Amino acid sequence: MAEPIKLIIDTDPGVDDAVAILMALAVPEIKILGLTTVGGNVPLARTTRNALALLQAAGRSDIPVAKGASRPLRGRFKYAPQFHGPGGLSHRLPDPSVDPVTKGAVEFLYDQVTADEPGEVTVVALGPLTNIAQLFWERPFALEQAKNIIVMGGAVNAPGNVTPKAEFNIYSDPVAAEVVIASGLPITLVDLAACRQVGISREQAMGLRSDHPMGRLTLNMLQGWFRKEPSRQRFEFYDPLAMAIALEPAIATVTKVDLDVGLEENESWGETSESGGPGEITLPLEVNSTRFFGLLVGLLELKGF
Ligand code: RIB
Ligand code: CA
Repeated sequence: MAEPIKLIIDTDPGVDDAVAILMALAVPEIKILGLTTVGGNVPLARTTRNALALLQAAGRSDIPVAKGASRPLRGRFKYAPQFHGPGGLSHRLPDPSVDPVTKGAVEFLYDQVTADEPGEVTVVALGPLTNIAQLFWERPFALEQAKNIIVMGGAVNAPGNVTPKAEFNIYSDPVAAEVVIASGLPITLVDLAACRQVGISREQAMGLRSDHPMGRLTLNMLQGWFRKEPSRQRFEFYDPLAMAIALEPAIATVTKVDLDVGLEENESWGETSESGGPGEITLPLEVNSTRFFGLLVGLLELKGF
């Protein structure tokens, strides 16, 4: 990895969020400035509790957590307990003994992104884009100071995972997604077409072990996810791929696209479609899965892969 980077992770933990966060925690050179939480996979109170509990379990309660949006810019979150479990994680973690900071997510994001010289902080958005859009609305120039903004979301020229056309994070708050995608900010959109290139079978996952604290926590989540539902045969690394691309952009080839977001209350709700012509959004295309798994295995010291 090149020079050390400063990260803020906007997240709705969420099993795959947890794996992505643990990957970042396993990189000594990374400075995680904080987590900002958003409703999405489960309600905000639960995603915030999970973020605090995960950091505590990792021995990193020093990292601040700031609470964000409990609902999207329009409508309500649909939640995904069928995938992440009612509590949002597939492994029981002790309740956190620390609270989130009193500052809200939008103010926290603003303060962190503008604290240093421009171009210092990478924002990794792993849930609905409500907090990011809110910041753009309230302080339009703040995010221009980010080094880049890596978003897990969308299904460009690929089937969705909530409806045939829509991916969960975008579907959960398409108005926010439209604000962010149309902002002209340096967005990398790690969509389902990229994420589906990095998955693991039940057999592979259950055969893994690790002596690394973050690796053990990761395997508790991953193996717990398979145990919860005997019919589950493959786990796709949605948020972990976005994190990996934030850490090592060369993991995937990219193209530049302009995207439209489906805002009609019909079957195109939350769709992400190319609007033609060279665009502003960086879209990963071909993922080097060997390099992705090399990073995952190396960081978390996974054995038996
Ligand atoms: O579609 C996958 C995304 O939705 C991931 O971020 C997952 O955590 C859920 O939030
Ligand atoms: Ca997520």
